Amino acid sequence: MMNRILADRMQLLGTESAFEVLQRANKLQSQGMEVIHLEIGEPDFDTSPNVISSAVKAMNKGQTKYCPPAGLPQLRECIAKVSGEKRGLSFKPEEVVVTPGAKPILFFALQACVNPGDEVILPDPGFPIYESAVGFCGGIPKPVPIIEKDDNFTLDLDILERSISPKTKAVILNSPHNPTGGIIPEKDLQIIASLVRDKDILIISDEIYSDIYYEEKPVSIASFPGMKERTVIVDGFSKSYAMTGWRLGYGIMPQTLAEHFAKLAVNTHSCTPPFVQLAGLEALQNGQDSLQNMVREFKARRDILVEGLRKIPGFRCPTPRGAFYAFPNVDDTGYDSSALADKLLNEGGVATLEGSSFGAAGKGYLRLSYVNSQEYIYRAIEKIEKVILNNRKKQIM
Ligand SMILES: Cc1ncc(COP(=O)(O)O)c(C=O)c1O
Repeated sequence: MMNRILADRMQLLGTESAFEVLQRANKLQSQGMEVIHLEIGEPDFDTSPNVISSAVKAMNKGQTKYCPPAGLPQLRECIAKVSGEKRGLSFKPEEVVVTPGAKPILFFALQACVNPGDEVILPDPGFPIYESAVGFCGGIPKPVPIIEKDDNFTLDLDILERSISPKTKAVILNSPHNPTGGIIPEKDLQIIASLVRDKDILIISDEIYSDIYYEEKPVSIASFPGMKERTVIVDGFSKSYAMTGWRLGYGIMPQTLAEHFAKLAVNTHSCTPPFVQLAGLEALQNGQDSLQNMVREFKARRDILVEGLRKIPGFRCPTPRGAFYAFPNVDDTGYDSSALADKLLNEGGVATLEGSSFGAAGKGYLRLSYVNSQEYIYRAIEKIEKVILNNRKKQIM
């Protein structure tokens, strides 16, 4: 019966494999196996106590009712100020739309701008929701490979240029990048800007990891001349302030588009809970120390993980520049990356994600999230090495 009831478009929606691997890992754990979780993309830090108290205080003061669909004025104002300072730009509160998490901004941008048959360029490998959300509105995803370059990952600009057609409606960028940890260099962004500037192409710039970087600061494509007018910046609180479960994100975009996003909000979730927004306000105003402590810890873990992975036979690991993911190539282990991810989980008790779950160009790679303690990262490296060496021995025998 369900086949007749479900709309055809439901077949176009994909999902995220991280949740499926988490389930498998938890099952092994419940059977008594020690599992080190490096699969999930959320900080292992707790939300800061001052942020939690501000939500409790807001709830006690009655901030538990409907509020404006585009967000509380004081939060929109603060986001405009802080985000503008971060990117060297000036934003108006009217250009900010607050949503339950950053995902609705991605979804709304595509729903608002993509007609059936329009093409949308997106990174491959990339956050799986991009392709899923493009397909859901009848758009045609045009994956552009992310390649290793100068010990970093960035878009293949030649393929990007060749992928632009009269049907191109939008280009999705993500820097710092999930799953590679790469940061698109400023000169590459400049080229991308020059490719789209004079065409009616929207940039959806997913900057959800923009606070988490270790050396060079990521640049927003919106900061180049003429680009703010054609860019939707996607950002939020999930990663920067360890607030994944609170569901709080935002978009910054031209005001006319923001008005359409507010209409989409009215039609879907009405508004983002006001006490959650007030917690977000506290995080933006007084959360910089916790953010910097978290980034320092991520950097220490990154260094341990990358150094450890580079010593494992068959692993090649470019240095992640931001976010909290390492993306080693494992082709030289002799294993298919998918088979290796299964082996590492089932034999070694280390949960990772295989690269092709982020797109065809991710084949040959694994994603490891360093959202676990330094102690567990050391243990994970030992366990991975043991699986590789044991299997080598078996092959030799
Ligand atoms: C690249 C990227 N964009 C967006 C999101 C979604 O963020 P949120 O949890 O705020 O919806 C994620 C979360 O994993 C992500 O990795």
